[in-house]
Amino acid sequence: MKGIILAGGKGTRLYPLTRSISKQILPVYDKPMIYYPLSILMLAGIRQVLIITTPDAKLSFQGLLHDGSQWGMDFLYASQAEPRGLADAFLVGKSFMAEEPVCLILGDNIFFGHGLPNLLRNAARLNSGALIFAYPVRDPERYGVVEFDKHGAALSIEEKPLKPRSNFAIPGIYFYDSQVIEIAEQLKPSWRNELEITDVNLEYMHRGQLRVQQLGRGIAWLDAGTPESLLQAANFVQAVEDRQGMMISCPEEIAFRQGYIDRQQLLNLANELVENRYGNYLLRMAREEAF
Ligand code: DAU
Repeated sequence: MKGIILAGGKGTRLYPLTRSISKQILPVYDKPMIYYPLSILMLAGIRQVLIITTPDAKLSFQGLLHDGSQWGMDFLYASQAEPRGLADAFLVGKSFMAEEPVCLILGDNIFFGHGLPNLLRNAARLNSGALIFAYPVRDPERYGVVEFDKHGAALSIEEKPLKPRSNFAIPGIYFYDSQVIEIAEQLKPSWRNELEITDVNLEYMHRGQLRVQQLGRGIAWLDAGTPESLLQAANFVQAVEDRQGMMISCPEEIAFRQGYIDRQQLLNLANELVENRYGNYLLRMAREEAF
């Protein structure tokens, strides 16, 4: 399975913060926002990743993430001239996908919690149909919303409904087989002139090939697209890391624990970051010291 991180868009809800810098490079406590969705793909065992950015931001992302080999990964970059919608990721990423299944994750979505690595590894085994998730929220009208029938199957899916039929939002992580390209190619832009991911999910639902898995309260899902949610996400990461002495979504750590890089490579990465908390964390891990 391949991965796509969608890290474009104008980030207008964060203006003026994002006037000259891409939202997904902004810090969420101690690391750039894109580290979080990238870590999720790494935990899922996905190593080939396409990073879609705005044309202006492409160089900054390449400066930050390089070709991925430092983490045993393989990154490619593409740009999206205009924010034409989430489903545009499959048109931009068509040749990258090369008929393989794909996981799309939004560059401003943060996931953390019990059982997540297992859940992700299982999801990444998908080779037919689609798998998306549902997460209970207080303000479903801000999201794609799924309604279930009494057997737990998806009954309806709506994008930002004024009157949500349930409190289950659809988080920004989606697993699809290669039909997604043909589906995306046939989409018509919505009233807001975007190719909607919700329309992709509806098409899979109509084909009887959509699975929606509910995420329990042991999992935290945060998006960091507004000043309030960005601060909340940073506070959350700080509180958990400070308490446990372990990092959330540290790509170097995941690369090491998954066996994508060896101890010497981890040491080299740590040495580049010496004299700060992040580097010391990597150093202690490489030396197998207690945290
Ligand atoms: O966060 C989950 C939600 O994401 C889902 O529940 C919704 O169904 C889905 O439509 C989406 O809603 P948003 O309103 O949050 O999407 P937004 O337009 O903010 O785009 C999400 C991210 O994707 C954002 O960080 C910018 C990036 N993006 C967006 C568009 C439309 C792109 O890179 N390119 C684009 O064309």
